[in-house]
Amino acid sequence: MPETVTITDNRTGESVDVPIENGGIPMSAIQKLMPGTWVLDPGFGGTASTESAITDLDGINGILRYRGYPIEQLAEHSTFLEVCYLLLFGELPNTEQMDAWVHDITYHTFVHENMRKRFMEGFHHDAHPMGMLMSAIAALSTFYPEAKDIDDPANRYKQINRLISKGPTIAAMAYRASLGMPFNYPDNDLTYAENFLSMMWKVAEPQYKPDPVLARALDILLILHADHEQNCSTTTMRVVGSSHADPYSAAAAATGALYGPRHGGANEAVIHMLEEIGSYDNIEPFVESVKAGEGRLMGFGHRVYKAYDPRARIVKEQADRVFEVTGKSPLLDIALKLEEIALSDDYFKSRNLYPNVDFYTGLIYQSMGFPLDMFTVLFTIGRMPGWLAHWQESLEQGQRISRPRQIYTGVDVRDYVPLDAR
Ligand code: SDX
Repeated sequence: MPETVTITDNRTGESVDVPIENGGIPMSAIQKLMPGTWVLDPGFGGTASTESAITDLDGINGILRYRGYPIEQLAEHSTFLEVCYLLLFGELPNTEQMDAWVHDITYHTFVHENMRKRFMEGFHHDAHPMGMLMSAIAALSTFYPEAKDIDDPANRYKQINRLISKGPTIAAMAYRASLGMPFNYPDNDLTYAENFLSMMWKVAEPQYKPDPVLARALDILLILHADHEQNCSTTTMRVVGSSHADPYSAAAAATGALYGPRHGGANEAVIHMLEEIGSYDNIEPFVESVKAGEGRLMGFGHRVYKAYDPRARIVKEQADRVFEVTGKSPLLDIALKLEEIALSDDYFKSRNLYPNVDFYTGLIYQSMGFPLDMFTVLFTIGRMPGWLAHWQESLEQGQRISRPRQIYTGVDVRDYVPLDAR
């Protein structure tokens, strides 16, 4: 059986046998048969924008693998920095490689004092941390103008390093600025997750002592968020990167895409939803309102997963460990009941709506003390290596500038009408 599909243009009777390669068909073959005819696919529900070797998603069976390694194994055995290395360079590092990588990240956590004092303190007291983070990431491009030299692998490595190492520093400053508290400097004696918690919570003690259970839970959550193939924000990173903009500008754009409640902003929206429901008695009426089209079940549904998001299962396991330290979230029982009701209701089952990564993460973040407006900031820190791995891959692929076509549905040509004749 040939791995081809035959397309016939009935207007001309001409046909073309199009090869099916790795589950896709090249648009170029169709263009030869029907030049000037475009495949219309708003939201890219059925369009592959690229080939990629980084992350493999099987939405039907709920499978997620980074460079072939199952997410369950990475969450159990790996660390976020090791996963960053894996996503970026394709292999798990050996001891020497890991030591060098951790050193490079650890010793680039500081930001320029102008960023700290003038830029971050310049925001209004109630500025949303995501707006601050997105702006600060873009501002980093002004501190490192050499980042425009995207063709130099050594230069790319340096900028990749800075974006992964400085993310938590900027994120913690955004939080501390909102409280009017002094910024904490990075502590190079701590691990990546521990250092972030230290910059967030350290007050006057000589050295912050993070709870190991909470630090490990945060590290695992960062692993779970590290990449997810061509999601909205990663596609943004690749599209902006395809114009050969510097990586800070591309990452700022990706941060903006992640900010939306349909994407990374969902973890914050889930808590608002659970607080709005407020009690067991309100769950059924709320579910009925969603089924009536009066809103969405935030933290449910996914463009790719038509089964349980494998990350949500791991997050749920982590929640139990965190709650042993922090005390159980008062919203957990409502979340569990809401999941139980939704998973047994035909409206959600018929639409393959299951909990996604955002459904339970917010409960953990809130129990660890993070305010709601920091949740998507945490997602940004986690997703940064995935964005950078895809940015680097698209440059190595020699990807053309992203420039989709459109189907024009506006008015036909017409002549200009002077103002006094309208
Ligand atoms: C992330 O892409 C990624 O990989 C994203 C992500 C990542 O790691 O990068 O996994 C992270 O963004 C997870 C998703 C977080 N968002 C939410 O939890 C927000 C709530 N979910 C949705 O709005 C929605 O499910 C999306 C945005 C996630 C997916 O939207 P799609 O694929 O465009 O689906 P759709 O809007 O076309 O919905 C299909 C049907 C519709 O019903 P009908 O018109 O057929 O009657 O399902 C319904 C929708 O109304 N539906 C929901 C629903 N999601 C879809 N109904 C109720 N509650 C929901 N959450």
